[in-house]
Amino acid sequence: MTTSLRIAVIGAGSISSVHLQAYANNPEAKLVAVCDKNEARAREKAERFGAAQVYTDYKELLADPNIDAVSICTWNNTHAEISIAALDAGKHVLCEKPLCKTVAEAKLVEEAVRRSGKVLQVGFVRRYADNTQILRKFIEAGELGDIYYAKASCLRRLGNPGGWFSDIEKSGGGPLIDLGVHVIDICWYLMGKPKVKSVSGNTYRKLGNRANIQNLAYYQAADYDPTLNNVEDFSNALIRFENGASLAVEVSFTLHALKDEIGVKIYGDKGGAEIEPELQIITEKYDTILNVTPQVDQLGFDVVKGFSNEIAHFVSSCQGNTETLSPVEDGLEMMKILCGIYESAAKGMEVQF
Ligand SMILES: NC(=O)c1ccc[n+]([C@@H]2O[C@H](COP(=O)([O-])OP(=O)(O)OC[C@H]3O[C@@H](n4cnc5c(N)ncnc54)[C@H](O)[C@@H]3O)[C@@H](O)[C@H]2O)c1
Repeated sequence: MTTSLRIAVIGAGSISSVHLQAYANNPEAKLVAVCDKNEARAREKAERFGAAQVYTDYKELLADPNIDAVSICTWNNTHAEISIAALDAGKHVLCEKPLCKTVAEAKLVEEAVRRSGKVLQVGFVRRYADNTQILRKFIEAGELGDIYYAKASCLRRLGNPGGWFSDIEKSGGGPLIDLGVHVIDICWYLMGKPKVKSVSGNTYRKLGNRANIQNLAYYQAADYDPTLNNVEDFSNALIRFENGASLAVEVSFTLHALKDEIGVKIYGDKGGAEIEPELQIITEKYDTILNVTPQVDQLGFDVVKGFSNEIAHFVSSCQGNTETLSPVEDGLEMMKILCGIYESAAKGMEVQF
């Protein structure tokens, strides 16, 4: 018999609801506290999801010995600081993506994980999706052969979330660090996490946040404010790996595109696969090309199920029953890639590792 893990959620904005709902539905977890600088927001979420305690200062929350683990759902510029403080206070951590803003911060978080011996899981939620884990079985069995190319795109024609997301001090960047992190990570994970060799990237600030556009809804930060916007609105990059494989990526908060687009495609010498927008496997048999559609409940990314799987895996890793699928080392590698792309764009040349 394991006792249920006592959970607090720090940051009670938009994404926290999916964390809170997943914990509330998990019989191995018990929600005990919610923290946000904005007390009314923390209180509202605590009441809605049945947590008894409300905090406005995460340091006070971390001093509570009746909390075993925390989800960090705050602005990107606070991820490293809160993760390190939580680990040093003896709590397990599920930190939302990106792990932090810089490689230097990521290394400090990695050190804190080592010295605390606690679990830190990076919120690479797409790794936990059913379609990813199905494809993973095919890849591990060699169905795609040697994977040498992947292509990731996440194009919003209108979708700068405003507020802290568009303030580079708080976010670390625009669509590359916010959306690119998901699609680059899922390709890298499915490619078998090859070591990155170089990156060449571009960032553009051509369209602004287009807060003038009407009659088209999009994801917004809890404190939506369009007045400050100093992040890129489009970025692309080519990432080279030491094993010779490459990954092309393109992401936008806004672009004059016909429609929003998400695509994650992986190509090997025996077969290919798409995981976004929907799982498909491409192969060859008896001199004929086959497009294979797995017969599963959800071919696309199911947000609620993805978070529920991610949180179930976190809880079970904290209980010592599993190893996290998205450890701090992977968060650090992703920061190297993302920061490398920003550096390459600023210098106008390839960055080698
Ligand atoms: N995995 C995903 O698909 C996904 C989706 C959306 C957002 N996110 C990530 O989740 C995080 C939060 O995003 P969001 O959309 O919920 O933002 P949000 O602005 O809606 O909410 C963030 C909340 O954090 C609070 N906060 C900030 N600093 C704090 C601090 N020091 N102490 C206490 N509270 C603090 C703010 O008051 C706010 O309520 C970001 O890192 C974002 O990248 C992940």
